[in-house]
Amino acid sequence: MPIDPEVGFTADVIRDPSRFVGRTELIRDCILAINAPTGLISVYGKRGVGKSSLLRQIQQMALGEYALAKRAGLSHSIPTTPRTYLTAYYSCDSLITDGKDLLSRLCNDQSSEDSLLRLVPDEGKEIVEFTRTKGVSAGADLKVVNWGVKGVESTKYAKVVPGDIVQTFRNFVDAIVTHQVKKRMKRDGLLILLDEFDVIANKDGIGSLIKSLTTPEVKFAICGIGRDLTELVSDHASIERLIEQGLLPVKPMPIPESEEIILRAEKLFNDAVKFEAGISAQIAELGQGYPYFVQLIGKQCINELNVRNTKVVDQSVFDKVIMDLKSGKAFPTLEAAYQRAIGNSRDRQLLLHFLADQPTEQSQFSDEVGRIVLKAARQDAEDLNVQYVDQLMPRLVDKKYGPVLERITERQGTYEFVNPVLRQYIKLREF
Ligand SMILES: Nc1ncnc2c1ncn2[C@@H]1O[C@H](COP(=O)(O)OP(=O)(O)O)[C@@H](O)[C@H]1O
Ligand SMILES: [Mg+2]
Repeated sequence: MPIDPEVGFTADVIRDPSRFVGRTELIRDCILAINAPTGLISVYGKRGVGKSSLLRQIQQMALGEYALAKRAGLSHSIPTTPRTYLTAYYSCDSLITDGKDLLSRLCNDQSSEDSLLRLVPDEGKEIVEFTRTKGVSAGADLKVVNWGVKGVESTKYAKVVPGDIVQTFRNFVDAIVTHQVKKRMKRDGLLILLDEFDVIANKDGIGSLIKSLTTPEVKFAICGIGRDLTELVSDHASIERLIEQGLLPVKPMPIPESEEIILRAEKLFNDAVKFEAGISAQIAELGQGYPYFVQLIGKQCINELNVRNTKVVDQSVFDKVIMDLKSGKAFPTLEAAYQRAIGNSRDRQLLLHFLADQPTEQSQFSDEVGRIVLKAARQDAEDLNVQYVDQLMPRLVDKKYGPVLERITERQGTYEFVNPVLRQYIKLREF
């Protein structure tokens, strides 16, 4: 029987706390933020670093499910009676134009487990309690099993005000707080979690909008790509007092923590798979702090086990995975992004490798992490007879082809890889 790699590894957001590894400091800060009566929670960091997974764990803790914190040795940080919430979770997309558009989406989303609308009291709607984890003691949330005979209707308890989405949203939230949060579930508040917040096109006034909607009963958590909060909320000054406790920067994972992902996977496989001593350290090293890459490599090792019909990931299995990685066979998604960027140009391929290989400052606290300078790569490229560097660059910063690179506007000739995992892939890829 082949081993299902998904049992131990996943490229998906981690919802199940038993699969979530490390991040102890952040979890402690999450506990504080969740238990502060008012305030905005904001999770930010680079692509693939683990933001959405942390946001899902915040959701769990907001429901009163603290198994993860306990396992992380944080029992003493959990209040005797933690604040508990009902939750709504929404992933934004780039078609959302602005704050009002976002509220409109929230009022119309019909996800049965995560939408705001599911919580709005309504006669025809049938709502049941459910837990988001396998554990029995897990915190309960509500989900819709039946939207009602007349379809989605939410007029009885919460008035829709035509042409005024802010007021409609307020009415929805008020009805939820009164009927579901307080009366039905006896919770402290409603937590609205917004993932991919960075992609909202126009963020003007979004900070003050969130501020005006935040009360001791209604809290927001926003999550997205960014170096700091100002990249998520442009008018951040208006929320200054809301963010004292809720700032959660997700940094690359320390290497030992990445290694823990492999050890955790072994447990999840229930010892049906073994990683020989030393292999997990090599995988963690390749991951460069990006759990996404660690998960991908882990998965690929299991695929190779299945080919060989064995159960032990030893050096030869690992070496085969690395060989496939180098030749572009192991990770089709990353390979496709790489090919799209270079677009059949040997010169552009070389330039891209020079850029990816450029040493960057590894300080965890510096903004400069991951930045590269074209000038240095230009020199390398010219040494290898690569011509017309300036004509090779546009495709690399063109949205249509990724983009692979983003210009840093404040500093001339400075770029950053949009996806650090892709950068690491390019570094390892043979050319
Ligand atoms: N704490 C963690 N433990 C184990 N794997 C993680 C952890 N955080 C993230 N991952 C893995 O890393 C990948 C990216 O996680 P995700 O939360 O989607 O990142 P982001 O939202 O920052 O892009 C996923 O494959 C996920 O399974
Ligand atoms: Mg994400």
